[in-house]
Amino acid sequence: MENLPAFKRHRRLRSSNAMRAMVRENHLRPDDFIYPIFVSEGNNVKREVVSMPGVYQFSIDLLEDEINEVVQLGIKSVILFGVISEKDEVGSGAYSDKGIIQQATRRIKEIAPDLLIVADTCLCEYTSHGHCGVIHDHDVDNDASLKLLAKTAVSQAKAGADIIAPSNMMDGFVAVIRQALDEAGFQHIPIMSYAVKYASAFYGPFRDAADSTPQFGDRKTYQMDPANRREALREAESDIQEGADFLIVKPTMSYLDIVRDVHELSNIPVVGYNVSGEYAMVKAAAQNGWIDEKKMVIETLLSMKRAGVELIITYFAKDVCKWLKDETVY
Ligand code: PBG
Repeated sequence: MENLPAFKRHRRLRSSNAMRAMVRENHLRPDDFIYPIFVSEGNNVKREVVSMPGVYQFSIDLLEDEINEVVQLGIKSVILFGVISEKDEVGSGAYSDKGIIQQATRRIKEIAPDLLIVADTCLCEYTSHGHCGVIHDHDVDNDASLKLLAKTAVSQAKAGADIIAPSNMMDGFVAVIRQALDEAGFQHIPIMSYAVKYASAFYGPFRDAADSTPQFGDRKTYQMDPANRREALREAESDIQEGADFLIVKPTMSYLDIVRDVHELSNIPVVGYNVSGEYAMVKAAAQNGWIDEKKMVIETLLSMKRAGVELIITYFAKDVCKWLKDETVY
């Protein structure tokens, strides 16, 4: 062809690293991440989670190095999960002032007073049946569970938690926890609600890590149906009305449409939880040499930013912060 037709030359803006950096619309920074830590009972425990290579359960006496590394990498917050062996029907380990999370919170505040501690407020790690609330007639009793969740949130705040993150999916949890925190003098403590949480197979490895697999049934009467989109907006709307300060969408990778919907619904910060199954899939493929882990993780986390998250809870947080030191990471 002698004369080409008129067309646009998009490649002009992709011609070099510097040019691409100039027009890049989304970035990853250490401030974007909340790093999950599993805290176990006992002494001298540093146990790798089999289905989550690179993720460990730590006993409180071994937290110091881990916390120092997180701080040194520039990460501003961690979310804590407890691993205990003595469980009961009502999950009393969740709201005891001597509970594992309460103790770990006090210890971490000694090591790193400025690191923000997000407390996951749920009962499933502490109940003998593994459900997120108390059981009556073979189902989780919503209103009875709310009372215990409110107690859990207050004891976590008392121990020094900076943010309360209820993840149990009972109706009304934001309203009840907000009221309980306010009455206990914690008006200043924000609630990061797991507003939109699907009943997902992607939580499998976490349940190994936190020993929280339900002993009967499943979580489908309280967590959401993966087929639904409009239901996510109903969940998010009620949490906004009840006073949530952040909205979590979980999982994230397969739910980017929902992240975008929630982002458009309100101006409250949206948090993506890049869950255990998403982590395990990437790790397993990388260990087999089938994918480039670094590139795949960066691409995945950027897709979450593009969809509209302000923050990402991810087991990759430490790795990514190390990779970000190299400018050509994108
Ligand atoms: C507690 C809770 C779960 C996760 C976070 N908080 C498990 C569940 O709902 O079964 C999952 C996190 C992950 O998979 O990384 N309810």
